[in-house]
Amino acid sequence: MRLPRQVRMVEVGARDGLQNEPLAVATSDKIAFIDRLSRTGLPVVEVTSFVSPRAVPQMQDAAEVMAGITRRPQVAYPVLVPNRRGFEAALSAGAAEIALFTAASETFAQRNTNCSIAGSLERCAEIAALARARGVRIRGYISCVAGCPYEGAVDVGTVARVAARLTEFGCYEISLGDTIGVATPGQVQGLLSVVAEKVPIPRLAVHFHDTYGQALANILAALEEGIAVVDSSVAGLGGCPFAPGASGNVASEDVLYMLNGLGIDTGVDLDLLVEAGGFICERIKRETGSKVARARAARCG
Ligand code: HMG
Ligand code: MG
Repeated sequence: MRLPRQVRMVEVGARDGLQNEPLAVATSDKIAFIDRLSRTGLPVVEVTSFVSPRAVPQMQDAAEVMAGITRRPQVAYPVLVPNRRGFEAALSAGAAEIALFTAASETFAQRNTNCSIAGSLERCAEIAALARARGVRIRGYISCVAGCPYEGAVDVGTVARVAARLTEFGCYEISLGDTIGVATPGQVQGLLSVVAEKVPIPRLAVHFHDTYGQALANILAALEEGIAVVDSSVAGLGGCPFAPGASGNVASEDVLYMLNGLGIDTGVDLDLLVEAGGFICERIKRETGSKVARARAARCG
């Protein structure tokens, strides 16, 4: 197996992890959670989304969260932005990096962003132009790369074309989202080989939800293809409000345990990561979705 020596872990727990929580999470708890994540050695901690509070009520305190966190110079703090209004709010809140998001499925694009894929790419182009002019870094997300909750199978050619467009807009990296967690390792490798014809592997990241329990296997398959950026959510929190039935993201603790076992450097401290997961689970009264955290709590590892 040829694997990368280093992997950059992108922590999405405070955004993807919390956006779907049915009960309000206190702003102070979000801030304390993000500050804990910042101390683990994670290089990227996604903070929040500047989206419609009607669409995603849990993210309505985006500006307060941004104002409250302690930013460390070695950590990037991207925020999701769906339109010009969100971009301006993110900028006012001091965001130095944004994440644009679109989809490879028309129906999901409609449900998630109330427009077609083409329409969402137009919005992305507009925001990206503004961001480039302000020197704001831009990451891109594509949802439903391996299947759509409404349409089923998704065309890999569409994923590749959308990835190419986001790259043209100036995204330094495109995160391929298996929003509903249906992918299997062979499918992931096939997808990556098609997308890599348009966007080189070093500019791709993977973002797996663990609905079907395939996420770690999929990450390993992606690493074998040279992927070196992996999104995950501490305690396996999360899910998209517009992907019914989909479970949380792959747990960051479990990803890190696997990467440590493979001798791949991340710079992230597992003890501190488990603590951050324990903190947020206690605050939102949830069991952790991380097997590593559970095993450690039971003192069997
Ligand atoms: P729209 O309805 O077409 O837009 O929504 P609109 O301009 O007509 O505005 C509708 C309402 O939202 C208005 O308020 C606006 O003022 C307000 P109302 O008059 O109804 O009270 N509004 C805003 N408020 C605050 N900030 C804004 C903003 N924009 C409009 N920026 C829109 C279009 C995209 C805005 C909306 O559908 C939306 O915000 N969607 C958010 C979707 C979302 O956050 N999804 C989850 C994140 S994506 C994800 O989880 C997938 C990912 O993890 C990868 C993967 O796993 O696949 C990234
Ligand atoms: Mg997601």
